Amino acid sequence: MKFTVITLFPDLIEGFLKEGLLSSARAKGLLSVETLNPRRFTSDVHGTVDDRAFGGGDGMVMKPEPLAAAVEHLREGADRPHVVVLSPQGRRWNQALAEEYVGRGGHVALVSGRYAGIDQRFVAEYADDEISLGDFILNGGEVAALAVIETVARLMPGVLGNRESAAKDSFTNNGLLEAPQYTRPREWKGHTVPAPLLSGNHAEIEAFKNTLSVLRTLKLRPDLLAGLSEQELRDLGLN
Ligand SMILES: C[S@@+](CC[C@H](N)C(=O)[O-])C[C@H]1O[C@@H](n2cnc3c(N)ncnc32)[C@H](O)[C@@H]1O
Repeated sequence: MKFTVITLFPDLIEGFLKEGLLSSARAKGLLSVETLNPRRFTSDVHGTVDDRAFGGGDGMVMKPEPLAAAVEHLREGADRPHVVVLSPQGRRWNQALAEEYVGRGGHVALVSGRYAGIDQRFVAEYADDEISLGDFILNGGEVAALAVIETVARLMPGVLGNRESAAKDSFTNNGLLEAPQYTRPREWKGHTVPAPLLSGNHAEIEAFKNTLSVLRTLKLRPDLLAGLSEQELRDLGLN
């Protein structure tokens, strides 16, 4: 799967991708991430990408033309991109959306805004989707673009090794929080590891983890249970 991040700050993206699993995934050819700076597509000496907002307001707005030219440039390539504008006003990014995106595969262009945002006419003309990281305001879309890339890449075959298996993660499978995890030592600062996890009985351990997962979700994120079907609730012993 391929991502192109359209950004005024490509080094933010490249710096993040130099480390860890995403770096390995790129090196193995499992994941392609490129950047494209809309400043390349300006014609004035200053490389102007922003201008004052019509109707007033403090901030500058990203002009539509350089962003449009960047997308058109990508469209000239072999794989026409699905264009995603990162915006606090978009669909809230979550694990289900990450699964949707890994299923769609192909080429995704992630458009990062800066300043007070992007001229709405660019969004109307080019956005196939608008994605938000949450109900808060970032300085720019780069952190959101990286979150999208990392969550999708984790679901791509071969990106995670066994050590980081995603199958039991929170929001995966039944959509609940994962049970708490423990490693050695068995006792630390007076806290002990729950006895069932030390039993060696696989079935008992699984049942215990499932119970903890449900209890933890009830306590911390009861909203996640509201999204389950009657059958799913019955399977969890909750209906
Ligand atoms: C300072 S924000 C502009 C916010 C805009 N004035 C508004 O209130 O909707 C600049 C850019 O950061 C990115 N951004 C900010 N918050 C975001 C969020 N929660 N999710 C995704 N992108 C975000 C967007 O690309 C946005 O164009």
